[in-house]
Amino acid sequence: MTEEEKEEVALRRKYELLEDLPGIGPATAQKLKEMGFHTVESLAMATARELDPAGIGEKKAFAIIEAARSSISVSFVRADELLRMRQSVLRLTSGSKALDGMIDGGLETQTITEFYGEYGTGKSQLCHQLCVNVQLPPERGGLNSAALYVDTENTFRTERIVQMSRHFGLNPEEVVKNIIYAEAYTSDHQMFLLDNADEVIKANNIRLIIVDSLTAHFRSEYIGREMLAPRQQKLNKHMHKLIRLARAFNAVAVVTNQVMAKPDVFFGDAVHPIGGHVVGHTSHTRVYLRRAAHGPVRIARLVSSPYLPEGEEIFKVTENGIEDVSEDEKPRSRGR
Ligand SMILES: Nc1ncnc2c1ncn2[C@@H]1O[C@H](COP(=O)(O)OP(=O)(O)O)[C@@H](O)[C@H]1O
Ligand SMILES: [Mg+2]
Repeated sequence: MTEEEKEEVALRRKYELLEDLPGIGPATAQKLKEMGFHTVESLAMATARELDPAGIGEKKAFAIIEAARSSISVSFVRADELLRMRQSVLRLTSGSKALDGMIDGGLETQTITEFYGEYGTGKSQLCHQLCVNVQLPPERGGLNSAALYVDTENTFRTERIVQMSRHFGLNPEEVVKNIIYAEAYTSDHQMFLLDNADEVIKANNIRLIIVDSLTAHFRSEYIGREMLAPRQQKLNKHMHKLIRLARAFNAVAVVTNQVMAKPDVFFGDAVHPIGGHVVGHTSHTRVYLRRAAHGPVRIARLVSSPYLPEGEEIFKVTENGIEDVSEDEKPRSRGR
């Protein structure tokens, strides 16, 4: 099977229309459409709470969402084919051995890694570092390849790349040549850039695709309850485009994401990432970043991974880039 055919199989669905889903009559279908859920895909990414206004009750909402989810993931691949795909997965170093260890030896190709956290926690710094690291040979944790940087907040700085390159003894002029940069002005523009990225990726031997930040434009453009469903649909489409690129080119895909306060949480983490189920289910590896009191130290927590246990490690952001924290620098207590 070609990549194209594989995609076709993955897209083949059991239920074509909302009305085909068990438990949805014409009246409910109509209501859901008025709420912005026109497709089985969008329902699959909904939460039971989002379906509240349809007046179908939580239990039924869960059942419908489950049916929609199972419907869009009906695809069959032989396990040896899966194994073959897994065997071609490559690893890219983050710059910190501790962080790499937490995620089983570095960021993997063919899947999406998400870094989320508050402002200033090092998400963009990590992205910069990865752009340099991907150019290193495999024995130094790199992929001998180039990077694509989609920047939505205008925070990419060539000066940082130069500093990081010098620290590695690389020629900064060469390193910056291997980073293809695009600023996205709106969420639609951001989507357009990825939708048209395959040629650039191929022509430049790109093995690292960064979207920094994934959610900022979506968050500022789609405001209010009634915009939630269309926003999630677009984000879903965008993330799936990213997964397809990562698979097709055996590339590492990285997205960054902000957090929102959880108003109803008194213990534990009072924040959660933007993007709800869409981002949660399509990011294969999610890493939550936060500051350790003051200074350059950051705490990374592996929040979800398909096959790794949760874990926590620390690293630091310095002029050199992303680095490990030495024993005597380690903070005694970890702040939130
Ligand atoms: N040249 C530098 N030297 C040392 N630390 C830096 C440098 N540039 C950025 N930083 C650190 O990185 C932080 C910004 O991180 P950034 O990745 O931009 O955050 P965000 O998570 O919002 O993307 C700064 O607050 C600073 O601590
Ligand atoms: Mg940033």
